[in-house]
Amino acid sequence: MIDNKKVLFSGMQATGNLTLGNYLGALKNWVSLSDEYECFYSVVDMHSITVRQDPATLRKRARALLTLYIAAGLDPEKNCIYYQSHVSCHAELAWILNCFTYMGELNRMTQFKDKAAKHADNINAGLFTYPVLMAADILLYQADVVPVGIDQMQHLEITRDIAQRFNGIYGDVFTIPEAYIGKTGAKIMSLQDPAKKMSKSDENVNASIYLMDDPDAIRRKCKRAVTDSVGEVRYSDEQPGVKNLISIYCACLGKTPEEVEREFAGRGYGELKEAVGEAVVSVLEPLQKRVAELEKDKSYIDGIIKNNAEKANYYAQKTLRKVQRKIGFPDRIR
Ligand code: TRP
Repeated sequence: MIDNKKVLFSGMQATGNLTLGNYLGALKNWVSLSDEYECFYSVVDMHSITVRQDPATLRKRARALLTLYIAAGLDPEKNCIYYQSHVSCHAELAWILNCFTYMGELNRMTQFKDKAAKHADNINAGLFTYPVLMAADILLYQADVVPVGIDQMQHLEITRDIAQRFNGIYGDVFTIPEAYIGKTGAKIMSLQDPAKKMSKSDENVNASIYLMDDPDAIRRKCKRAVTDSVGEVRYSDEQPGVKNLISIYCACLGKTPEEVEREFAGRGYGELKEAVGEAVVSVLEPLQKRVAELEKDKSYIDGIIKNNAEKANYYAQKTLRKVQRKIGFPDRIR
């Protein structure tokens, strides 16, 4: 608890180009949480280097993501928006937690198996202990809730296991975090294969709408979206492509699927695709404008980076010092 509010922690990696799915499924919904929770949103650059990165690109993307958080409406006075690498407690706690995590547990992580298969030439120890760093992120701030997608649920589970194990030995040091299940964001699927999630790492550029796509690209991708031969605009599992387009339309305009079915009764897929394209443009164009404006104001963003790193450090150190004392590290002499 901070100021009588529950604590919420989440993070995103600045690798790859963020998609409409990241925005509608996560970021957009974070905005409404800051009244109810004390929120920490990290740009998890330390996680990013588990896969080889170009330094200049990583730096640029990390800043772009931090700027995007603000452009999306997260008030940086109310939400602690910061770079993970600016708070060295993350690395320190991760080391300690490594000593309370079993190889067998980490071996079971499906994301590790997937990434190891994908980057067979660079299966480094950091990739293996990635979930431990994630546990450190969450536990440092004594987070009560963590909004995560299903792909990260296993990592949240291991976080809880590590925290419970630690508490079992040393007493109640860590808050046991829960997955945040609130009004969940829209699940946006690939435009080319609606059985798959829209992903920033899809090789097919037509499968994903990127947040920085220009209006023409957005319209073109919507026009090319895979549908079916039924010919009716219905929100049904039997028509996954059409269903996905309706979901996107709803998430952009705040409509319900029933309203959209009515709106497009007797009309063809061509019209639906065109309308979806315009709906997405109406959401992303203003977002891109806000990003561009914020990017011009270098000293404003720099100030946020500095202040929020200090704020994050303050809370993180409180937990880290407690942990260090519990496990028997010598007190600091002041
Ligand atoms: N691993 C998460 C992802 O790739 C990002 C992340 C890092 C995270 N630390 C976190 C998410 C802590 C929630 C809480 O999506």
